[in-house]
Amino acid sequence: MIVTELIEKKRFCGEMTREELQFLIDGVVDGSVQDCQMSAWMMAVCINGMSEREISDLTDIMMHSGDTVDLSDLPGIKVDKHSTGGVGDTTTLVVAPLVAACGGTVAKMSGRGLAHSGGTLDKLESVPGVDIEQPLERFKSIVRNIGVAVIGQSGDLVPADKKMYALRDITGTVQSIPLIASSIMSKKLASGADAIVLDVKTGNGAFMNTLEDSKRLAGEMVRIGKRLGRRTVAIITDMNRPLGMAIGNGLEMKEAIEVLTGKVPKEDPLVEVCLTLGSNMLVLSEKAANIDEARAMLIEALDSGRGFRKLKDMIRALGGDTRFIDEPELLVRVNRLIPFYPIKDGYIGAIDAKKLGIAAALLGAGRFKKEDRVDPAVGILMCRRYGDAVGKSDPIAYLYVNDEERLDEALGLLKEAVVVTDTPPEELPLIYDIIG
Ligand code: URA
Ligand code: CA
Repeated sequence: MIVTELIEKKRFCGEMTREELQFLIDGVVDGSVQDCQMSAWMMAVCINGMSEREISDLTDIMMHSGDTVDLSDLPGIKVDKHSTGGVGDTTTLVVAPLVAACGGTVAKMSGRGLAHSGGTLDKLESVPGVDIEQPLERFKSIVRNIGVAVIGQSGDLVPADKKMYALRDITGTVQSIPLIASSIMSKKLASGADAIVLDVKTGNGAFMNTLEDSKRLAGEMVRIGKRLGRRTVAIITDMNRPLGMAIGNGLEMKEAIEVLTGKVPKEDPLVEVCLTLGSNMLVLSEKAANIDEARAMLIEALDSGRGFRKLKDMIRALGGDTRFIDEPELLVRVNRLIPFYPIKDGYIGAIDAKKLGIAAALLGAGRFKKEDRVDPAVGILMCRRYGDAVGKSDPIAYLYVNDEERLDEALGLLKEAVVVTDTPPEELPLIYDIIG
């Protein structure tokens, strides 16, 4: 096969055969397909799309481009959750321990943040001592003993995605339903869970901005999961604002601890999304007969503190210093705390979640290049939400700052991100749809 012919085939809207996709992916992994060629082909996919059959084949081939994890020697149904990427979205740190506290088995491999979106691994590492690189046998033994482990993806899992994702990130080819669906699902399928709950974000802080695109992405991922024999549900949730109040790694770990210790009301959007994701995880795991029963179990685990103790057990098993879990203030000690005021009295009428995420990253909470180091303590803590009344003399957020080099840039973005209006805005739905 000739690579240029395969690029031209997609360029002119052709449908790739399985053999052609296999040839391309093999070439990405062994280096015989050049970066510029793969990037050109992926741009053609972005523009011309793929058929369901092509997406399934691509996912399957990517999944088998490296090692796959076998969790079959762990008892019961292993359940995983995955978010398509958002801002102030600390659900995993709440839901994974809560589901384990209700008898679920959560074996999860997470990723790092990139650009505006946060990553669970960076949040875990805000606790000194935590080691997210665990050998597979140790990972399994933590899951067996505690019921939950969240670690980094091992080196050889889906090497094709590592390469493709890095190229997409620098060639404007991230936003594509076939490429996102195959990227996420190849990793989920390779990491061995029997059941998968997907949190598909929609809105200005998500990779998919419109509800229509988010529904198509959710539908594709559910279809791929089921086709390969995994129980899969996708929940479409709002990302036209940060989900929680905290944006930054230690700040989000602290917020997760506050949820698990009952300091956040049940009506809070972060708690609501956690209960929705968690109840679907428990039903897929056959630990609850229906969503209502699952929800009651989760609330009991929350109120009794059993969920909190699971988080602490997991952090200890990963080598973390649990003093930081008992005293989460220790996670967010910074040189300067800078209040941010609205430009006038009124209401928070719109929030650009992506700009908030980038502002936090500029303070050191995120990366712009893979090699960048994050500062676990810095970020943005909102004290007002979308729709709240605000007064000119009351801060709507605090910036947690150590390095001031890009502070002005961050403040500029924050000003653009939060729009103050004279009348309250329309209420936004929190959960749009559940698919599967
Ligand atoms: N997360 C992924 O892992 N891949 C994508 O393509 C988008 C979000
Ligand atoms: Ca290690």
